[in-house]
Amino acid sequence: MNQSKKHTRILFVCLGNICRSPSAETIFSTHAARRNLSVTVDSAGTSAYHQGELADSRMRQAAAKRGYSITSISRGFIPDDFNRFDMIVAMDDNNYYDLKAAAQSIEHVQKISKMKDYFIKHTYDHIPDPYYGGAAGFDLVIDLLEDASQGLINFIENKEI
Ligand code: 4NP
Repeated sequence: MNQSKKHTRILFVCLGNICRSPSAETIFSTHAARRNLSVTVDSAGTSAYHQGELADSRMRQAAAKRGYSITSISRGFIPDDFNRFDMIVAMDDNNYYDLKAAAQSIEHVQKISKMKDYFIKHTYDHIPDPYYGGAAGFDLVIDLLEDASQGLINFIENKEI
């Protein structure tokens, strides 16, 4: 039973924390709740350029069309996040290498993974940044995050056995 399993704290990370990682936070937590997984979920940016802002309106609209309400407020990644979370999940290779550069121990490094590692059916090698593109990029982000969220839930469930 999931209720008897360990609680897992997960932080999703992208560059600005206004497109991909707040979407990952919302989509993953929605599906984790449906599968009765015990998780704490948050998101952050490797930059704090958009600190204090809601997610990009194009991202929020694309998500709303798919039934997700993104309400998180952007913040920058802080070193203590390595202590506050069990898993730190990067959206692309730049995020991944920035996080690795910020890690202060092997334990920190071992917490970092890439969202693409959890794809079940998609074969992209990262979650593409939709910020400078058109509407299709935001829809693609949601498709990819839905798939990876299911894979990440499976991973956590199996890890806890
Ligand atoms: P995100 O997208 O990393 O998915 O939140 C971006 C948001 C803002 C910028 C770049 C990417 N920016 O350059 O301001």
